[in-house]
Amino acid sequence: MKIANIEAVSQKTKNTVWHEQHISKKQRSELKKQKPVLLWYTGLSGSGKSTIANAVDALLFKLGCHSYLLDGDNVRHGLNGDLGFSDEARVENIRRISEVAKLFLDAGLIVSTAFISPFSSDRALAKAKLEDGEFIEVFIDTPISICEQRDPKGLYKKARAGEIKDFTGVDSTYDVPEFPQVHVKTAEQSIEQCAVQIVNFLMKQGFVAKSPIG
Ligand code: ADX
Repeated sequence: MKIANIEAVSQKTKNTVWHEQHISKKQRSELKKQKPVLLWYTGLSGSGKSTIANAVDALLFKLGCHSYLLDGDNVRHGLNGDLGFSDEARVENIRRISEVAKLFLDAGLIVSTAFISPFSSDRALAKAKLEDGEFIEVFIDTPISICEQRDPKGLYKKARAGEIKDFTGVDSTYDVPEFPQVHVKTAEQSIEQCAVQIVNFLMKQGFVAKSPIG
C-alpha cells in the first residue's frame, strides 16, 4: 500500500497564507450547544456502515443535534468521482474526506463518515489531523460471509466472477481496526440496536447531552 503523495500536495500549496477566521470553532460549537466530533465508520462493503450511520444521524437529528453524514458511495458521485479503487486512489479518497470532515468539525458539527477506509494508516492520518478526542473509530464488524450473503449491490458476485478487480475483502486488503472506540457487531444486533449503541456512547462521552436511550 502506498501513502498519498502528501509532499506533492503541500508543495503545490507553498505560496498560500493561512487566514484566521473571525468566528472560531468554539463559538460555532457553543452556538449549536454541542461538542464537535467525528464518527469514523469503517467496515467492509455491505457491512452496514451507511445504513447504521444514517440511523444514528436520524437519532441525533431527533435529539436536536447539528450533524452531517458523508457517505462513501455518495461522495464518489461528486467530489471523489475521479477516483477508482486502486490502493493509491483509496488513500487519496480518505485523505480528501478527512480534510472535508475537519472543515465540518470546524463548523461545529457532529460529523459521520461512512467509507470502507481499508488501510489503518489512513485512518491514523485522519485521526492525527484532529484535536485530541475528536476522532471516534466505529468498527462496523460484519463477517465477509454475511456481507457476501447480503450483497445488496451484487458487487461480491461480480468480484468473485472477476468482473470487478481490487474488491475489498476479495482481492484488496482490509486492515481490521485494533482498538476501535465503538465495536458494532451487526450479526448480533438489529440496525436500531447498533444505532442506539453508538448514540449511547456519544452520550456517555458527553458529546450529546441527553440521558441514554434504548
Ligand atoms: S474506500 O475503500 O475508498 O474507502 P469507499 O467507501 O469510498 O471505499 O467506497 C466503497 C463503495 O464503492 C462500496 O460500498 C461499493 O459500493 C463500491 N465499490 C465499487 N468498486 C469497489 C471495489 N473495488 N472495492 C470496494 N468497494 C467498491
